[in-house]
Amino acid sequence: MLIAGNWKMNKTASEAAEFCAALKDRVAGLEGAVDIAVFPPFTSLSAAVRTLADTEVAVGAQNVHWENDGAFTGEISPPMLRELGVYAAIVGHSERRQYFGETDENVARRASAALENGLFVIACVGELEHEREAGETENVVRRQVSVLSEDDRLVVAYEPVWAIGTGKTATPEQAREAHRFIKELLDVPVLYGGSVTPGNAEELLAQEGVDGALVGGASLDLDSFVAICETAAR
Ligand code: PGA
Repeated sequence: MLIAGNWKMNKTASEAAEFCAALKDRVAGLEGAVDIAVFPPFTSLSAAVRTLADTEVAVGAQNVHWENDGAFTGEISPPMLRELGVYAAIVGHSERRQYFGETDENVARRASAALENGLFVIACVGELEHEREAGETENVVRRQVSVLSEDDRLVVAYEPVWAIGTGKTATPEQAREAHRFIKELLDVPVLYGGSVTPGNAEELLAQEGVDGALVGGASLDLDSFVAICETAAR
């Protein structure tokens, strides 16, 4: 099981250092029982890497570019992350697709460049609410997954967009169904994401094909994040 905390645009470097120092103590006993990773904003990566250096908690970035360097204002490349001691990157988060124009094609490029550079990758997929209502979920997810290639370091996160930050979660059946579908397309671990909390984690993580969770809002609060990690460890 992998529990990954996507902090989004939250926590400055000093806040990240403080959070990671506390996290380190709280999850020390879970080592070996669950894999844990945090995904701070770029400016807080270094503080997180330093604070978690002597632990099993991994640190990842929320995005990564496909080129190693060049005229790409505002972007960060895989070697830049590697040199910092960053271990993984998220690609294709729905907020990147929705607000920053990311497409299946550039998500695929980001994923393969990151993998080639030795990073682990969490590639996010998931349908919008109107797509689910129109019975399009499988078509959308198939389109998003089909640009990815199987890799030992690739993980997919199924995040129904209507469940992200809304307090609505997929039902256990919806999650099971989507994870089964993704695994038929690609033989990789699949995380569930979308309003995961300590209250619903147990049921979601118990579903067949759910290999962990990508947690947004609840990963910002130490008690909530630790509780979800403890649930996964059981
Ligand atoms: P949420 O976010 O847990 O706040 O819904 C999940 C995500 O966007 O990864």
